[in-house]
Amino acid sequence: MILLIKNIKKLVQVEEQAVAKISGADMAKLATIDNAFLLIEDERIVNFGTMDELTNPSVWKMTSCKADSLLNADIKVIDATGQMVLPSFCDSHTHIVYAGSREIEYIDKIKGLSYEEIAARGGGILNSAKLLRETSEDELYRQSMLRVEEMISMGTAAVEIKSGYGLTPESELKMLRVIKRIRENSPMIIKSTFLGAHSIPAEYRGRQTEYVDLVISEMIPQVAAEELADYIDVFCDKGFFTVEDTDRILLAGMKYGMRPKIHANELDYSGGIQVGVKYDALSVDHLEFVGDAEIAALQGSNTMPTVLPGAAFFLNMELSPVRKMMNAGLPVALASDYNPGSSPSGNMKFVMSLGCINYKMTPEEVINATTINTAYAMGISDVAGSIARGKFANVYITKNIPSYEFLPYAYGSNLIDKVIIKGKIQ
Ligand code: NIG
Ligand code: FE
Repeated sequence: MILLIKNIKKLVQVEEQAVAKISGADMAKLATIDNAFLLIEDERIVNFGTMDELTNPSVWKMTSCKADSLLNADIKVIDATGQMVLPSFCDSHTHIVYAGSREIEYIDKIKGLSYEEIAARGGGILNSAKLLRETSEDELYRQSMLRVEEMISMGTAAVEIKSGYGLTPESELKMLRVIKRIRENSPMIIKSTFLGAHSIPAEYRGRQTEYVDLVISEMIPQVAAEELADYIDVFCDKGFFTVEDTDRILLAGMKYGMRPKIHANELDYSGGIQVGVKYDALSVDHLEFVGDAEIAALQGSNTMPTVLPGAAFFLNMELSPVRKMMNAGLPVALASDYNPGSSPSGNMKFVMSLGCINYKMTPEEVINATTINTAYAMGISDVAGSIARGKFANVYITKNIPSYEFLPYAYGSNLIDKVIIKGKIQ
C-alpha cells in the first residue's frame, strides 16, 4: 500500500541523515520543509520533499509503484493543505499496566501529605500493588488497552512499559505478560521493562535485602526464561532501593541481556545516576537532583538523561536542571511517566508544554526531547523518532495550525487530526 500525504504546510523534524540522538545546543535545531509531501509504502517512510519535487521520477521510483508517475498511480492520497505533519511521540517511560486508580491519594496530596509520607503509610505504589494482585490478567489487559488507545489518539506511537506493581514473582509475571499481549495486539512499538525493585512489598518490610535476593534469584530468571523484558529498572532513591541494591539487581539483569534503564535522583542525590552510567544504562530517569558530579558522570556516556515533567508537575517537586544539562552538552529526553500515583496522564503534547513552561525549553527542544531522544531512550531511534527514509511511518497530521510552536503553546487543545502508525491511519 502506498500512501501519499501532499500539500503539507510544514513537514517537521525531517532528517536527511538519521542520527541516534540530539544533544546540547543541537537540541534547539529542527529541520522542516514547507509545502511538502510525505510518501509512505506499507509500514515505512519512503521519501519526502517539497511539492515541486514530487513530479521528479526519482521520487516515485523509490516505491514499488509501476505507474509512469506517482500522480497517475493508484495510491491513497491525503491532502494536508493547512496542516502540519510531525513524527509521533515516543514515550520512553511509563507504568500504564496498572489496576484501578488512586485519586483518593490525590486528595491526601491536596491536603498536604507528601509522596513519601503517602508511601510510608502503605499508600502509593503498595496501594497499586494490592489492587493489581486482586485483578485478573484479562481485566488488567482490558484496563491497560484503554490507556494505550488514548495515548494513540494523542499522537504516541511507541511506548516503554514497566512492571513494578506486582512485587511478587507471580504478579510481576502477570504484568509482563499483559505488556506482551499489548505488544502483540497494538500497532504501537512496545518495549518492556522489568521493575521488580519498584518498592519493598509490605510482607518484606524491614527485610529489604531478602526482597532484593528474591528479585535476583527468582524473578529475574523467570522473567528471562519467558523473554518478557527488554530492560531492567530499579527505583534507586531515598526510602526505596540503595545504590548497593541497585548495583546487584542491574548486574543480575544484565547477565540475562536486560539493559539497565533506571529511576534515579527523584527524591535526593541518590547515586542512582552514577550507578546507571557505570552499567551503561540506556537512560536514567526523573533527575530532579542533579549537580555537577551527576552531570560529569553523564558526559561522554551513552546514557540518556530523561526528565518526567508530568510527575514533577503533579507532585509539585523540585525541577530538574534541564538547561544546565543541555548547556553541558548533554541530550535530554522528556517522557510522560504515565502511572496512577505521580503522573496519571500520557499526554505527550502536554509534556511538551510543561517542558516549555516549567523548564524554559524552546518548542524545538521539546519536540526533539519527546521524539528522537525518547526513541533513543527506548532503543528504537533507528526506526522511529523522526521523519527519515526507512523509518516506520509513525506520524500525526495536525489540524490547521499557524505554526509548530502553536502545539506546546495551546496546551489544552487537541490539535491532532489524523494518526498514522506503521503506515496505517488509526
Ligand atoms: O516514576 N518514582 C517511582 N515510581 C513511579 C511512581 C509510581 C506510583 O506512584 O505509582 C514514578 O513516578
Ligand atoms: Fe516511573
